[in-house]
This record gives sequence, C-alpha cells and structure tokens, in this order.
Amino acid sequence: MERKRGLFFVFVRAPPPPTSFFLFLLVILSSAGLSASQFGTPTAEFDTDRLGLLSFKTLLSDPSGALVSWGNSSLHFCRWRGVKCRNHGGEPRVTALVLESLRLKGKLSPSLANLTFLRRLRLGNNSLEGSIPQELGFLSRLRSLNLSYNHLGGMIPTSLLQNCSELRIFSLSHNNLNGTIPRNLSNCLYLRVIDLGRNTLEGNIPSDIGSLPKLETVAIWDNLLEGSIPPEIGKLASLTGLHMRFNHLDGPIPAAIGNLSSLTQLDLSNNLLAGAIPAAIWNLTSLRGLLL
Ligand SMILES: *[C@@H]1O[C@H](CO)[C@@H](O)[C@H](O)[C@H]1NC(C)=O
Ligand SMILES: *[C@@H]1O[C@H](CO)[C@@H](O)[C@H](O)[C@H]1NC(C)=O
Ligand SMILES: *[C@@H]1O[C@H](CO)[C@@H](O)[C@H](O)[C@H]1NC(C)=O
Ligand SMILES: *[C@@H]1O[C@H](CO)[C@@H](O)[C@H](O)[C@H]1NC(C)=O
Ligand SMILES: *[C@@H]1O[C@H](CO)[C@@H](O)[C@H](O)[C@H]1NC(C)=O
Ligand SMILES: *[C@@H]1O[C@H](CO)[C@@H](O)[C@H](O)[C@H]1NC(C)=O
Ligand SMILES: *[C@@H]1O[C@H](CO)[C@@H](O)[C@H](O)[C@H]1NC(C)=O
Ligand SMILES: *[C@@H]1O[C@H](CO)[C@@H](O)[C@H](O)[C@H]1NC(C)=O
Ligand SMILES: *[C@@H]1O[C@H](CO)[C@@H](O)[C@H](O)[C@H]1NC(C)=O
Repeated sequence: MERKRGLFFVFVRAPPPPTSFFLFLLVILSSAGLSASQFGTPTAEFDTDRLGLLSFKTLLSDPSGALVSWGNSSLHFCRWRGVKCRNHGGEPRVTALVLESLRLKGKLSPSLANLTFLRRLRLGNNSLEGSIPQELGFLSRLRSLNLSYNHLGGMIPTSLLQNCSELRIFSLSHNNLNGTIPRNLSNCLYLRVIDLGRNTLEGNIPSDIGSLPKLETVAIWDNLLEGSIPPEIGKLASLTGLHMRFNHLDGPIPAAIGNLSSLTQLDLSNNLLAGAIPAAIWNLTSLRGLLL
C-alpha cells in the first residue's frame, strides 16, 4: 500500500510530457525514499497504526506462529492475521483486532491506544499477563473489549469506563483481576454485556449499574464482591441474565428484581443473602433458570 502511494505520488507530481526523462527518474527515486511524515498528518497517523501493531507484537511470544504474517513487508498491515481496517479520510485505519485462542503469551502493549479507530479488541483465551494498560481508555470508539480467559492481573483501569460512550461488550472474565468494579458506569450508555466472572474483584456492586438501559447480561460470579445487591438493578428493563453466584453478597434479595420482566437466568447462589424470597420473583414469567 505504501508502495502504491509512492507511485500515485509520481503520477500526480510528474510534470506532463514533454519532460526530461531525468526529472521523471528523480521523482521516482525521491518518492522511493519518502518517509511517512513527508505525506503530512493523515499518513503520519496511518503509519501510527502500523507502528502500534508492531509494537503490540514485540511484547508477545507466539509459539504457534499465529503472527507470521505480521511485519511481512510485502503484506499491507490490514492483511495481517486478525487485523481489519476501514477507510477513514482516505486512509485505511485499523478497526478490529481479533486474535482469540492463539496461545499468545506476554503483556498487553499500551501502544494499542494509538489505534484510535479501533472498535473491536478481542484477545480472549490466550496467555496474556501483567495488567491492563490504562491507556486503552483512549480508545473512545471501542464497541467490544474482550480479554477473557487470560492471566491478566491488577486492577481494572477506571479509564476504560470513562471513554465508553460506544462500548457494548465489556468482557474480562477468567483472569486474576483485583480491586473494585470501576464506578461511573453511567458513561457507558450502550453497554449490553458486563462479564467479569471468575476474578478476585472485591468491594460493592456499583449502584449506578442501574443507569445502563441496554444492559442484557451482568456476569460477576465467582469474585469476592460484598455488600448488598443494589435495588437499582430493578431498573434494567432489558436484563436477561444476572449471574452473581460465589461472592460474599449479603442483605436481602431486593424486591425490585421482580421488575425485571425480561430476565431468563437468575443465579444468586453461594452468597450470604438473608431474608425472605420476595414474592415478586414469582412474577418473572420469562425466567427459565433460578438458583438461590
Ligand atoms: C510475505 O507475504 C507474501 C504474500 O502473501 C508471501 O508470498 C511471502 O512468503 C511472505 N513472506 C514471509 C517471510 O512470510
Ligand atoms: C481456548 O482455546 C483452546 C485452544 O487453544 C480451545 O480448545 C478452547 O476451547 C478455547 N476456550 C474458550 C473458552 O474459548
Ligand atoms: C503512539 O505513537 C506515538 C508516535 O509514534 C508514540 O510517540 C507514542 O509513544 C505512542 N503511544 C503509545 C501509548 O504507545
Ligand atoms: C469473550 O471471548 C471468549 C474467549 O475468546 C469467548 O469464549 C466469549 O464468548 C467472549 N465473550 C463475549 C461476551 O463475547
Ligand atoms: C478519552 O479519549 C480522548 C480521545 O481519544 C482522550 O483525549 C482522553 O484522554 C480519554 N480519556 C481517558 C480518561 O482516557
Ligand atoms: C492486585 O494484584 C497485583 C498483582 O497482580 C498485586 O500487586 C496487588 O497487590 C493486588 N492488589 C490487591 C488490592 O489485592
Ligand atoms: C464520577 O463522576 C463524578 C461526577 O460526574 C465525579 O465527580 C467523580 O470523580 C467520578 N469518579 C470517577 C471514579 O471517575
Ligand atoms: C419496580 O416497579 C414498581 C412498580 O412498577 C415501582 O414502583 C418501583 O419503583 C420499581 N422499582 C425499581 C427499583 O425500579
Ligand atoms: C404479581 O403480578 C400480579 C399480576 O400482574 C400483581 O397483581 C401482583 O401484585 C404482583 N406481585 C408482586 C409481588 O409484585
């Protein structure tokens, strides 16, 4: 692609015939040596994507050779395995990075933050370790973030949920994440899936979870969450699955759960909940699984 660009440059810049062949040659030679910066801002950004991807690769080991296509100079980066692009302002920009179940091992590079057009980042079921770089919060176009089934540790960066106005899927399950569930979820208006199961998250369930009108699945099972279930959960009219088993939740089951008319799966088992089962739960006619 870069080479094609060079040729294009030649055609527009080459003076119309008759011209000296020498001048034409000069243009070709100089365009061959052009660096990205000489094309101005759009191309500098364009190269930022390629550099961001290469920098992401440097922190990974790849025992099954899943990334052999990466860095092959005769292959445009949009054709590297797992990379999808779209044109933005005439430049191809990376919009998806999907590398699941490929035995990739190593750390997540903050350079991913430079892929500013990224919408889908799905790296589940690898051996990623270290912490989640807070720089991923720069990815304000992100719709789907799935880092599930890895060995990621440390806290969930609050930055991830501050720039989340496009985010639909937030899946970090089966890792070693600790700390609390970030507050201010209310920025993430389109969030449909929160999947944080099987980590070591502690603290309370944030009550602003009730301000996410599109939420369909809340999976926070097998953590160390404590405190009571916020009654605000009853406002989630689209909720179909609520999975909270194996935590340290206490207090009563809020009667507001009876308002969740779309609920099909409710699992509150293995907690420290007390009190009566609210009668409203028997009004949940869609319910197909109930574990208390
Ligand atoms: C680079 O990609 C080209 C085109 O797909 C392929 O023919 C070539 O074998 C690749 N080179 C390496 C080193 O993988
Ligand atoms: C993870 O990947 C392995 C192969 O590497 C596969 O057998 C397994 O089913 C995958 N698990 C999930 C949860 O995707
Ligand atoms: C993004 O790219 C710029 C320019 O290549 C670089 O200076 C910066 O360190 C990169 N940011 C990250 C987080 O890697
Ligand atoms: C996240 O990725 C894992 C592993 O690749 C997959 O099993 C799971 O279904 C994905 N979760 C969502 C919500 O897409
Ligand atoms: C949100 O994204 C914008 C633009 O990408 C960036 O300038 C800002 O710092 C980001 N905020 C956080 C909290 O990461
Ligand atoms: C969270 O995990 C990191 C390493 O993964 C550790 O250094 C840190 O002490 C842990 N924090 C808490 C509150 O457990
Ligand atoms: C949450 O939002 C409030 C007001 O919008 C702000 O004062 C607070 O600092 C935010 N907290 C976090 C963790 O972003
Ligand atoms: C549940 O529904 C009832 C009746 O529609 C309403 O009065 C109550 O405020 C709702 N509770 C919540 C937590 O949304
Ligand atoms: C269950 O639904 C019936 C019929 O809509 C209603 O009369 C009753 O008050 C509801 N019970 C509870 C506990 O919400």
